[in-house]
Amino acid sequence: MTQEPLQRVLVTGGAGYIGSHVVFALQETRRFKVISIDNHHNSHPESLARVSQIAKSNLPANATAQDKESTEIDAYQADLTNEAQVRAVFEKYGKGGIWGVIHIAAYKAVGESTEIPLTYYQNNVGATVQLLQIMSDFECTRFVYSSSATVYGTPPHIPIPETTRLQADSPYGRSKVMCEQILQDLTAAEPQRWRAISLRYFNPAGAHPSGLIGEEPRGRPGNLFPLLAHMAVGRVPPDLKVFGSDYPTPDGTCVRDYIHVVDLARGHLLALDALAPGSRIFAGVAADAPKIKAYNLGKGRGMSVLQIVEAMRKATGFEYKYEIVGRRRGDVPDLTADPTLAEKELGFKAPNDLETMCKDLWNWQTKNPKGYGQ
Ligand code: WQD
Repeated sequence: MTQEPLQRVLVTGGAGYIGSHVVFALQETRRFKVISIDNHHNSHPESLARVSQIAKSNLPANATAQDKESTEIDAYQADLTNEAQVRAVFEKYGKGGIWGVIHIAAYKAVGESTEIPLTYYQNNVGATVQLLQIMSDFECTRFVYSSSATVYGTPPHIPIPETTRLQADSPYGRSKVMCEQILQDLTAAEPQRWRAISLRYFNPAGAHPSGLIGEEPRGRPGNLFPLLAHMAVGRVPPDLKVFGSDYPTPDGTCVRDYIHVVDLARGHLLALDALAPGSRIFAGVAADAPKIKAYNLGKGRGMSVLQIVEAMRKATGFEYKYEIVGRRRGDVPDLTADPTLAEKELGFKAPNDLETMCKDLWNWQTKNPKGYGQ
């Protein structure tokens, strides 16, 4: 049986927490040749070596040379704000040489973005505009964009449908809104050329069940899940602070829609396939209308901070002691997705439950007590 040739796909931020799981999801299919661009600002090159190792170990006995080729990653350490570096990567594969791009690389700390907004706009917006221009020059016009639930700001309704107005309330969230609007304008200007999907992540959590790849933030984690894991494994002092218990939520602490990172990663594969010619998600769209859609990637189940602490206590056996302190700037009471559009149009599913997220995170952390740095 003749095999379809591998499709080259560029993943920006491919060495990161989300990126490495997306690269794994692509390699799992053995349909893609993955290229990664990452400046390792918040990632480790070791992650991609391990992704490739998992893919190789999963090869069937009758693997073809092409199957083996699909487990090799063309990884480039480069900065997306450096035009020459990015252009050099595209030059290597020539016009039409890269089938599509999954753009994940971005700075993503809400609080930090309020302190250094220009850095966020340059890295998250400027670099995206430059990437799209280079893609256009090289006839690469399929784009999956890593957006975020933070584009909804404080949403008027829970769960949140994609039709909710976008009104972020941090430079980070606004950088995501701006990029979604840039994609709207680009696809409207060239509806016959461009196809794009924005994926609005809710709260990714957990790790690949192999325990070989996982979240490894530089320094003390700001996000709740990795912080709880670092505390339980003794990497940071267990001085857990709960940011506010006076929110209009069942137990007064913030509610978020946590989704297993493996499920989130598979959503990118579905989005990539939905950009192929003849895709049903654009079937009803007029030829001269923009080919762009946005989808929530969440479970549709909100969990509070205290529920997460309790779930991690059960998974790790660590007796967390916490102090309720004031609210954190930029936090909103509840971000819970309405996931039905992605389920209906992309066939997206997020079957892994909270217990599995905690178990897989803890498996990663205990197998890698110092992360990739050991
Ligand atoms: C979750 C809840 C905190 C730490 C993050 C990113 C955002 C997006 C999604 C990419 C909040 C509370 C936390 C602590 C706490 N990523 N908390 N004590 O803020 O929902 O969003 O992931 O798009 O960019 O910032 O996640 O894990 O930081 O916080 O009480 O020490 O846990 O207040 O309510 P968040 P988080």
